[in-house]
Amino acid sequence: MGRMSVNSVRKLGAWYRKNARDLPWRKGSDPYRVWLSEIMLQQTQVKTVIPYFETFLERFPGVQDLADAPLDEVLRLWAGLGYYSRARNLHAGARALAERLRQGEGFPRNREDWLQIPGVGPYTAGAVCSIALGLREPIVDGNVVRVLSRYYAIEDADPRYQRIWDSARKWVEVEEVEPTVINQGLMELGALICTPRNPRCEVCPLSKSCRGKANPSMYPVKKKKPELLRIEEEVWILFRMTKSGPEVVLRQNSSGPWRRGLWDFPRSGTLSLGSENLLEAEWSSRYAVTRHRITRLHRAFRVSRVRLKEGDGWFHLEDLPALSAPTRKALIALKERMG
Ligand code: ADE
Repeated sequence: MGRMSVNSVRKLGAWYRKNARDLPWRKGSDPYRVWLSEIMLQQTQVKTVIPYFETFLERFPGVQDLADAPLDEVLRLWAGLGYYSRARNLHAGARALAERLRQGEGFPRNREDWLQIPGVGPYTAGAVCSIALGLREPIVDGNVVRVLSRYYAIEDADPRYQRIWDSARKWVEVEEVEPTVINQGLMELGALICTPRNPRCEVCPLSKSCRGKANPSMYPVKKKKPELLRIEEEVWILFRMTKSGPEVVLRQNSSGPWRRGLWDFPRSGTLSLGSENLLEAEWSSRYAVTRHRITRLHRAFRVSRVRLKEGDGWFHLEDLPALSAPTRKALIALKERMG
């Protein structure tokens, strides 16, 4: 690594110490808190994560508490954060970590051992090792890709970003700055200064040696966008009035890539409805999951009698199980319609 870059790492460190946001997972270096926060921060913005992180820590102060909780409760608290496979992995990871604690092994102390924990890949392993354990392991997320591909004017869009990982490793090996400062500094710079649009090069601590600053929008070289897939789905919201308030029929998703384990409305046509059941409202809404653009048509029926399928249940609106965000929003819309 050239002298220029070593200088840049120093400048990055000084900048981070002065400008780092005061985020809840930056207090102390408990590996449990760092691991939890880094799982939540994958694909998700800092401001979205903060309240979830605080709720989880309150409910599950230690990894054993999380391991002991039923998966359904973890999914319910996760509801709204998206990418629910993370919640299932988090729960499996907590069980693996708790098992290590029972064996007297403690939390993993190196990258290899972290990679054995469910849900922990190269990014999370690097994050926990550098932030919680002070090890010189690199991490590469979207922010780091942007900062380093601009700094070095890297043009190749290697899908696995091997050159970026190599560069990130060189940066984190600069001994006079702590690894947590280097790695979080790169991410923080990407979040606050070296932003996707309109980067603020004039206040960037790295601008003097940045090779991409004449043309930051060229980096990182864009991958071809995956094609969007349009999907239409139709669900039935079956509700009834009881003395203690309205209830709806929900069914647990048992398969499929998304929303597994969460509860949802039955698909239209999967139950037989007699003609005495009244169509009360009909509306559609749109939402996105990864590259899918989904239009969901809701048909809400006030039902008097209906034969449910095994596993379906009536749920009181004030006592709902784990729902995905679109389903929760639909129930709020229904409540509003009913006054
Ligand atoms: N995104 C992922 N990890 C982060 C961290 N530790 N701080 C800020 N943003 C992040």
